[in-house]
Amino acid sequence: MSGSRSLSPMKPIYLDYNATTPIDPEVADVMLFCMREVFGNPSSAHAYGVEARRVVEAARAQAAGLLNCSTGEILFTSGGTESNNHALKGAARANRHRGNHIVTSAVEHPAVSEVCQSLAAEGFEISVIGVDPTGLVDLAALERALGERTILVSVMHANNEVGTVQPIGEIARMARERGILVHTDAAQSVGKIPVDVGALGVDLLTVAGHKLYAPKGVGALYIREGVRLATFMHGAGHESGRRAGTENVIGIAGLGKACEVAKRDIGAAGDRMKRSRDRLQEGILRDVPDVRVNGPRDRRLPNTLSVAFRGLDAGALLGSMEGLAASAGAACHGTSVEVSKTLRAMGVPLEWSRGTIRLSTGKCTTDEEVDRAIDIIAGAVKKLR
Ligand SMILES: Cc1ncc(COP(=O)(O)O)c(C=O)c1O
Repeated sequence: MSGSRSLSPMKPIYLDYNATTPIDPEVADVMLFCMREVFGNPSSAHAYGVEARRVVEAARAQAAGLLNCSTGEILFTSGGTESNNHALKGAARANRHRGNHIVTSAVEHPAVSEVCQSLAAEGFEISVIGVDPTGLVDLAALERALGERTILVSVMHANNEVGTVQPIGEIARMARERGILVHTDAAQSVGKIPVDVGALGVDLLTVAGHKLYAPKGVGALYIREGVRLATFMHGAGHESGRRAGTENVIGIAGLGKACEVAKRDIGAAGDRMKRSRDRLQEGILRDVPDVRVNGPRDRRLPNTLSVAFRGLDAGALLGSMEGLAASAGAACHGTSVEVSKTLRAMGVPLEWSRGTIRLSTGKCTTDEEVDRAIDIIAGAVKKLR
């Protein structure tokens, strides 16, 4: 099976695929080939350059194939953070003459919320829309926020912590009928659920390579044909003048292959991730008392489980779960607890949020790993309580 990795008895069980994924072996093969054989500069006119250009353009076609758009609508970037920065700053600055109002949600990754903060310092007005207890954006409040001076709406496709999948199609419809641009950060959804930019109706969409079994440091931004963004990176005319800097040919080749694999395998991979996530969820709910799941049961990424252990401290829990790699929904600093913005926005009470951990499965997570993880978690909770 592609994407598998060796699990030595000494290595902790990895259930943190929302943080990052290993490189798929098929992706690694393509990258290794490029590393050894394709060193030309894609801007060079000679045979070496032409070969590198061919690799970049083949990857663009693979990415476009996954998102169901045309190749000219794919811009390669250094990852999700850059794609979000480029989308938000580029759209805001290019449309300043039309207005200065941007609408976003309370559960965005810092790669969007911090960009909004920086745009606020440039004079843009930011409206942050709240969510319900499952993390779903309040659509009525979002619609009310759209006004004459609104130029951009940015709401994530799927949340990185609790996995809530937002109704982007509906949000896009509301915005676009008013002539407002729509961006969605799809860093967590691409490769886990089908993402079709036409069906979503968005103008801009962020892809992060390392969340879909491509390497870190490469990503893409879908830019609907005709949408103009202010130049983000100044320099020479790479990427059709849209992003200066010699292309990361090896990383781009990897991202292209990862997109091809994701498109080919999405049904089976999604089913496997969901099966192991559901097994994990059932096992924890069965074996551990005083526990609950944050986020929706259904409108959720197939691999994500945000689980709260009442009265516990997530840091202490992770620390005592030797043999398991997961992440916390709250961080403790001395006597104060910093609960994640997402859990706060969802109104999760502190006694639950401070003991929240995020478990996220991958396309190669096995039943054996899941069962061992359940035992480790149940044992750690028992010890701490
Ligand atoms: C929802 C979301 N957006 C953006 C990012 C940032 O992507 P990158 O790490 O490629 O910069 C992440 C990474 O955790 C994410 O989960």
